[in-house]
This record gives sequence, structure tokens and C-alpha cells, in this order.
Amino acid sequence: MADWNPTSWTTKPIKQDVTYEDAEGVQTALTKLQQLPPLVTPQEIVNLKKSLRNVALGKAFVLQGGDCAELFDYCNQEMIEAKVKLLLQMSLILIWGANKPVVRIARIAGQFAKPRSSPMETINGVTMPSFRGDNINGYPADAISRRPDPSRLVSAYFHSAATLNYLRASLTSGLADLHSPLDWGLGHVASPSIKEKYERIVNRVTDSLRFMRTVGLDTARGIETVDIYTSHEGLLLEYEQSLTRLLRHPPNALPESDLTSPSTRKASIASTSGTPPPRGYYATSAHFLWIGDRTRQLTGAHVEFFRGLCNPIGIKIGPSMAPDELVALLDVVNPTKEIGKVTLISRYGAKKIADHLPAHIAAVQKSGHIPVWQCDPMHGNTQTTPSGVKTRHFSDILSELKQALAIHREAGSFLGGMHLELTGEAVTECVGGAGGLTEEGLSERYTTFCDPRLNEKQALELAFLVAGFYREEMEESNPI
Ligand code: PEP
Ligand code: CO
Repeated sequence: MADWNPTSWTTKPIKQDVTYEDAEGVQTALTKLQQLPPLVTPQEIVNLKKSLRNVALGKAFVLQGGDCAELFDYCNQEMIEAKVKLLLQMSLILIWGANKPVVRIARIAGQFAKPRSSPMETINGVTMPSFRGDNINGYPADAISRRPDPSRLVSAYFHSAATLNYLRASLTSGLADLHSPLDWGLGHVASPSIKEKYERIVNRVTDSLRFMRTVGLDTARGIETVDIYTSHEGLLLEYEQSLTRLLRHPPNALPESDLTSPSTRKASIASTSGTPPPRGYYATSAHFLWIGDRTRQLTGAHVEFFRGLCNPIGIKIGPSMAPDELVALLDVVNPTKEIGKVTLISRYGAKKIADHLPAHIAAVQKSGHIPVWQCDPMHGNTQTTPSGVKTRHFSDILSELKQALAIHREAGSFLGGMHLELTGEAVTECVGGAGGLTEEGLSERYTTFCDPRLNEKQALELAFLVAGFYREEMEESNPI
């Protein structure tokens, strides 16, 4: 890409930018980040890209989920395990339902920066910068905490690294071992019906594994562990640029001079199997980055930065996106029409999806692009209760997902996955679900610093319901 480099975004208009008073501090932080090792490798990134290609072709399903905004304090054993177990449990339910492999991407290990509708807010009569996420400023409501602090950029890297380290260590130590999915635990889920349904699926899985072991097919690696990829919104471009590395040569072909030259800033490469990563620039802060709904302007800085990356990328699309603009955007970020390179994360809201998704699908089909279509049923369904609490109704979330499935089927397309805000904790932030959480009950354990998340019970219930839609679909198309 001749006219692109990791800094070319700085010549374009930018939305949701952060203004730091301490310019020298920013330079110090970015220099440090440039010296630090990549958090993920090009090999892992291309492995995910390959899996997303399968999703785009309808051969796999992608489950993406995690907090709206991670805090540095979430970097602890309990919370990481709870989130990972929940994603594993949900993916097992979805594998059973959709009868397809599930690609897991967590909003974890870097989901710190948040776009805000207003840069300033007034709390108790004092006007101060809005909380923009732990890698920018602090949550406490005072002007000092809210001042953007560049040292938080480096802190974000180390919290991401610690989270990722524990995630990797847990997975390689057998946290995801399919031989014992009951050990994944059902944490806070007290509901007997969910417990029972889950145990029934697990029993089927263990029966199949027992059979495979009996006939000697249980030797392949893959049952002991799974891949969980990391993701976040690529909002803070200074941070992303500092962790973007040029891979000049395919693995195992690095000339010594390049290996030792500090100025080349090449990525280190894990010697894992798979298609070797091609030459190019890789954002190494996470495997998958997405552009938010507020920063996806065709000629803006974020689109400029993202178009040069080899990573698979996401783009949030909502009701304000025109169909021809969507195609123009795909042409910019994916001129070669690589299948599954782009994940379109649609977030219209249950009441608006029917007005927008069909035209978006039709325009993309006509263009020849084959993206992953993922439904985010969270961000178009946020409401404020009469007492001023931000929430989402389980029924709206389910309704948007159900409509997305039907609209895709009708259009001869397929819904490749879902994108959820969830937590392994027993929070009370979204209304509804089998537990019957009411608006009055929201204050009990409302701990989000940004958008309301599904709790463990609601997330599992949603996975069962979506799995059920797929089973119904299969039964309709294959009547006995
Ligand atoms: C988010 O995913 O937390 C978010 C801010 O989404 P969107 O860009 O779709 O509003
Ligand atoms: Co959010």
C-alpha cells in the first residue's frame, strides 16, 4: 500500500480525539510503547483471519463478548476466569445449537478507551471531562482524576499484558479442556432450568468424547484447549500506531541484520503452525480491532489507519449508515475483497433493524464483498429508566438477534455471529430474562462504568435461545 504508513492517519480529520496537556509525557509514553514487545503475533492474527473467512462463508459462527469498558481493576484472577468460562460455556451451547465450530473473541485485554457523546459532563454542579476509559483518564468525579494522563497509555499495555498472560496460561493449563466442561462451573447461575439444560448438553459432549476415546479417535490436540482471541475498539490511534509492527519477512526467513536492527520494529513471531503471515503491518495490541460507530467516517483518521492493517477488522454500522457509503467503506478498507477480512457489526436496535439491515445486505451482496455479518443487539437498544439509569431489555436484545437471523436467511445471506456486552459477575444492569430482573432491581448490583452488560445468567440464557433458533432452522430445512 504505497500511500499508507502507520502515521498517515495524522493528516486526516479525527473524531473522539484526546487532548493532552502534557505533550512531553505523551511522547515518553509512545516511545516506551514502541520499544515493548507485541502483545499478539502475526501468526495468531492470520489464524483468526482464516477462521473468520470460514464464518463469512457460513462454515463457522463467531461469538464476541466482554465488558463495554474494562477497568485496570478488572485485571484479576477471578474476573478473568469468570469471563473466560462464560464465553466457553456459551460457545459450547452455540456449537451444539448451530452445529458449527465457534470462533471466540473476547472484548478483553485492552478494551479501555471509550468514545463519548459529550466530551464534558457536569456532576454535582462541577463541569469536568467525561470519563473516557482507564487508558485515558480516571473515573472519580473530580477535575484532577478526569485530566487525560499519558502515563495511562503504558499502564494500559501492562494491564493488557497481565490479562493476556493469565488468559494464555489458563488455557494451556486446561481451563478449556472439553473432557471436563462441568469444571467450567456455573458460577452465579442458580436457575435450575439453565443448570439442567447446560448439564444435558455437557453430558452429550462427554458421551461423544467417551465414544471417540473408545474407538481411538481422541488423540488429536484441540480437545484439551481452544483459542480465545482478544479484541477492542481501536479508538486511541496513538496507542495503536505505537504497537503496529511491520513484518518484513515470512517466519523463519529473517536475515540477521533485520533481527538486530532496532529501527525496523518488526514483530516477533510465534512458531505456531498454520498459513504463514504475509508481509505487512500488524496491529499487535490485539488480534481483532474494530472501528466504532462514531469514528467510521470515510475520509477520517480511523478509516485511514485501519485500511493499512493486515488484521481482521470490525466496523460498527448503525441506522445512520447509507448503503452506498457502506460499500464505499468496504472498498477503502478491503480493496482486494478478501473474504472475512471485515466483520460488519450491525447495531440498529430492535425497532430499526428491519428498516436498515435488508438494504445493507443487498448493497454488500451486489458489491461482491463477502464480510462476516455480526449482530450487536446491545448498542441500539440502550434506554434510560425514569429514574435515570442506563439499561437494556433482554427482550429487545433477543428480538434484534432473532430478526437479524430471519432477515439474513430471507436475503440468502447468513448471520455469522453475535457481539455482546457481558460479564461473568452477577450484576444487575439489563432488565428481563428468565430471572425477571426489573427496573427496581437494577440498583442492587449495578457496577458498569459504561454500558449495561448481560450478567452470567442472562448471557447463558441468550446463548440457549439463539442455539434454539438454529436448531429450529435445521429442523425446518431437514424435516424427519
Ligand atoms: C461499544 O462497542 O462499546 C460501542 C461504543 O459501540 P458503538 O460504536 O457501536 O456505539
Ligand atoms: Co458499549
